[in-house]
Amino acid sequence: MPKQIKQRDLTEVLSSEQKKYFPSKTIIKNANVPDYEKTLKKAARNPEKFWEEAAQDVHWFKKWDKLIDKSKKPFYKWFVGGKCNLAYNALDRHIEGENKNKLAIIWEDETGKTKKYTYFELYEEVNKMANALRGIGIKKGDRVAIYMPNIPEIAISMLACAKIGAMHSVVYAGFSSGALEGRIKDARAKILITADGSFRRGKIIDLKKIVDGAVKNCKTIKKVIVAKNNGAKIKFNKRRDIWFHDFVKGQSTEAKTAQMNAEDPAFVLYTSGTTSKPKGIIHVHGGYAVGVLRTIKWVFDLKGDEIFWCTADPGWITGHSYIIYGPLMAGVTTVMYEGVPDVPTPDRIWKVVEKYKVNVLYTAPTLIRAMMRYGAKWPRKHKMKSLRILGSVGEPINPEAWKWFYNHVGKRRCPIMDTWWQTETGMNMITPLPSAPLKAGSACKPFPGIIADVVDKKGKRVPAGKGGYLIIKNQWPSMIRTIFNNPKRYLKTYWSQVKGAYFAGDVAFRDKDGYFWIQGRTDDVLKIAGHRIGTAEVESAFVAHKAVVEAGAIGVPDELRGEVIKAFIILKKGIKGTEKLQKDLKMIVRKNLGPIAVIKEIEFVEKLPKTRSGKIMRRVLKAKELGLPLGDTSSLV
Ligand code: PRX
Repeated sequence: MPKQIKQRDLTEVLSSEQKKYFPSKTIIKNANVPDYEKTLKKAARNPEKFWEEAAQDVHWFKKWDKLIDKSKKPFYKWFVGGKCNLAYNALDRHIEGENKNKLAIIWEDETGKTKKYTYFELYEEVNKMANALRGIGIKKGDRVAIYMPNIPEIAISMLACAKIGAMHSVVYAGFSSGALEGRIKDARAKILITADGSFRRGKIIDLKKIVDGAVKNCKTIKKVIVAKNNGAKIKFNKRRDIWFHDFVKGQSTEAKTAQMNAEDPAFVLYTSGTTSKPKGIIHVHGGYAVGVLRTIKWVFDLKGDEIFWCTADPGWITGHSYIIYGPLMAGVTTVMYEGVPDVPTPDRIWKVVEKYKVNVLYTAPTLIRAMMRYGAKWPRKHKMKSLRILGSVGEPINPEAWKWFYNHVGKRRCPIMDTWWQTETGMNMITPLPSAPLKAGSACKPFPGIIADVVDKKGKRVPAGKGGYLIIKNQWPSMIRTIFNNPKRYLKTYWSQVKGAYFAGDVAFRDKDGYFWIQGRTDDVLKIAGHRIGTAEVESAFVAHKAVVEAGAIGVPDELRGEVIKAFIILKKGIKGTEKLQKDLKMIVRKNLGPIAVIKEIEFVEKLPKTRSGKIMRRVLKAKELGLPLGDTSSLV
């Protein structure tokens, strides 16, 4: 643990405004959500009972025999013996009832093109896709890779997979060929669903070309299904590729929904860890549905006709849980927006809110900071009276951004739900409810039914104001079940640090009111604009360049993106560290990982600090760079 966190009382780092509760008018009085403290206390008395009650909101073909099986810790099982289906909960159940003709998806892209789907229309599209997938032999448990922009076809594809019991493995379409290839190979996906291209600031991104680069080395991929999105000219491999519209043509609009065991995997989603190989996080049909539905209903107080807009990308867990599955399970309308929020003018995002009368806006601190730079005059042009609740996720939100969001977007009416969670947790874990007194920059307290703590290395609770490791002490339904094909890594990463508790990998502290303040990662995981990237992944991209012998990468603070990369590179003997080489090296990282790996600076060095066993001590690099105490250097060679 960094020394500076250990020593002082961290409440001192809070501004006087952060120490106070925000005015009580931010509390939504008429919310369906119960009183904050009372609910927390009640759930804490019996968290398992809380989750058992929450599970009543989910549709079950057959109820469970046993709520939780702890016989093979930490491979916990929930709702054992229960039968359900995630897609049934998101779609089929609405077709019988009053939501049938309600809008399920409103989609718009940067160019202004829009599409709308009612629940029934979406249901029919998903059924056609489900039949087509079955038609080419995709069955329960098979992995289907999805690499698509934020377009309705991604929702259709994900839901169709869940419907037939195949596991989707969505890869964020900002990743490049190398990253996509690695994820396809690890998942041994049988097919890939993609699009011709996407738009970014008016520029066409040739997704299919990236796919071709990745798939040529993936033997398991038998078909590539391509949705027509922006008409980009693409190369077509007639034996392997098929247009999405041709693939579903003539398929029946009815399809049988697979009755899945509650513990059957619904999807795998790759995320970065401490090694260069990303981890395939497994979530299951039953528990994931329960956790996501309960949190979206309570954190965002969703009611029947709400319009919910989560600005994330479906390629990340936030998109899985709160663009696709959560809003659809709750039977509200979800907004999908493909493009950047400031094109053609800096108020594009506020225009979308106003145009579709968005009630809940769930976004990331980086986006808020970017909008802040343009100034309050842009949101001021828009009344945005429909907004009731705001949300923040993905990285710590600084108090300036919190207040700006609160004052200029929520117009001092809308509470901000700062939700802390992870790909692994599946759902919001530490978060206020709309009935909670708020503090600017705190994720408040654990969601009902969650027991979190801040502890030292030995697992002992640290006093209020002291920094420590964030852990979860109980089990929750939407928790990660394992790492795909790597149960050992699951045990080592999450369950070997603090006995009996889930180790989140974050540093945090609690204040005297029991509010949690998340400080950032303890490990070698970076959060660049809220995107999760491992330093080891960046380093292995650098060493792919023929001039590089070794690389060390660290995160350095950045006002806009939260964090960006600084790299220390050892070059082969005789090679000069020129400006041109710096550019080439930046390009190779972009090519191997994608533009989300933002490199601020490259420094050519002769040596890197290492342990006796030869591991690069990134902690030492970082301390030197930021002028912090070096900490324990006894293992430094
Ligand atoms: O460091 C925490 C940060 O994001 C990490 C999880 O990243 P990922 O799996 O990509 O999921 C992001 C979206 C759920 C966490 O370990 N993080 C997430 N939300 C917050 C946060 N840090 C501070 N405040 C948050 N609200």
